[in-house]
Amino acid sequence: MSSSRSPSLSLPEPPAELAELSEALCRKVIAEIERDGPMPFDRYMSMALYEPGLGYYVNGLHKFGPAGDFVTAPEQGGLFAAALARQCDELAEAFGPGWTLLELGAGSGVLARDLLAGLASPPSEYLILEPSAPLREVQRETLADLPEALRERVRWITAPPAKAFEGVIVGNEVIDALAVARFEVGHEGVLEQCVTFDGERLQWTTRPPRPRLERAFDKLQQQLGRRLPAGYAGEIAVDLPDWVNTVTEPLARGLALFIDYGYPRSEYYHPDRSDGTLVCHYRHRAHFDPFVWPGLTDLSAFVDFTAVAEAGLDAGLEVAGFTTQAGFLLALGAHEAVEAADDDAERLRLSGELKRLTLPGEMGEKFKVLGLERGLEIRLSGFGLMSQLHRL
Ligand SMILES: C[S@@+](CC[C@H](N)C(=O)[O-])C[C@H]1O[C@@H](n2cnc3c(N)ncnc32)[C@H](O)[C@@H]1O
Repeated sequence: MSSSRSPSLSLPEPPAELAELSEALCRKVIAEIERDGPMPFDRYMSMALYEPGLGYYVNGLHKFGPAGDFVTAPEQGGLFAAALARQCDELAEAFGPGWTLLELGAGSGVLARDLLAGLASPPSEYLILEPSAPLREVQRETLADLPEALRERVRWITAPPAKAFEGVIVGNEVIDALAVARFEVGHEGVLEQCVTFDGERLQWTTRPPRPRLERAFDKLQQQLGRRLPAGYAGEIAVDLPDWVNTVTEPLARGLALFIDYGYPRSEYYHPDRSDGTLVCHYRHRAHFDPFVWPGLTDLSAFVDFTAVAEAGLDAGLEVAGFTTQAGFLLALGAHEAVEAADDDAERLRLSGELKRLTLPGEMGEKFKVLGLERGLEIRLSGFGLMSQLHRL
């Protein structure tokens, strides 16, 4: 069986023990396919990322930063967290001292550490909703650098808190890690792209769609106001509305910020983007074959921000703002730290970081920030510079 290797990609081979872990994950996928038939892609993506002990985020192998497969905005340095802290401090004034910050999917814990250290009015409680046990450990280690008085405010949870709170929810690069279903438009109607095994490799195949994907696809075409042409393929995050509802339910008053790479719906399903947005990261190489080294490879899809905004409205929230990452960070003065740097070396380092976060060819425009609010009557500085609300 060579189910983990791609016949066409020349990616570096992992060491034998990691290859074995990936093969073990493949064997589980294949066993399920042999038992139940072709596997819907969202099930495959969940297994590849979260299958206990084997999936990419839960096998304890995940490395962050330059040694990992990709680098997120808070791992570039402190500018992202400092700007976010400014936005949170503006809100903390309105909340008073007993506010809560809920971070979704905290990765290495760097954002939690830098936010807690950078906030003028830190929350009384910093909750981290993190489903991955190995990542919770990594986060604990990262937070060990903080003074005790801040560290003791942090609590890890594996489901949203039952008790309502006033505060801020932050999810950076979390929605892109939620499993997506894949569809393909056939001549006779929509089909679901599934995973099968040909005795040699995992492969794509198509099946009539499950009812929930068919309903989501019909709704998508209605919302787009156009039919997607035969041959067009893409993703729908079928679980997104429930997820947004669940994670924002305890927010009695406050703001939820979702930051991720993505587009408004009309661009997401643009006729030219005819094979979706699924992307795989393996040792800083991006490719498009999700069957290569599962468990050692990050799989993600861009975010349909119109769908996130609609899910927020359905959950009883209001849209507080939508802008690019560059717009958000610059509105919150991220560039001021560069100007205020103590020496040339520091200025050079910060200006490199600012460029990576804000230039259009880097993270500046591909990444967007969506704010959903409940019960706030506050002007949010982060959305004050370059609103993109009209594009949603
Ligand atoms: C790409 S990493 C982003 C990490 C971090 N936010 C950052 O910006 O560096 C995705 C994170 O989301 C977590 N995650 C995945 N599914 C989740 C879910 N349903 N709820 C909350 N977190 C989730 C992963 O375990 C991981 O910590």
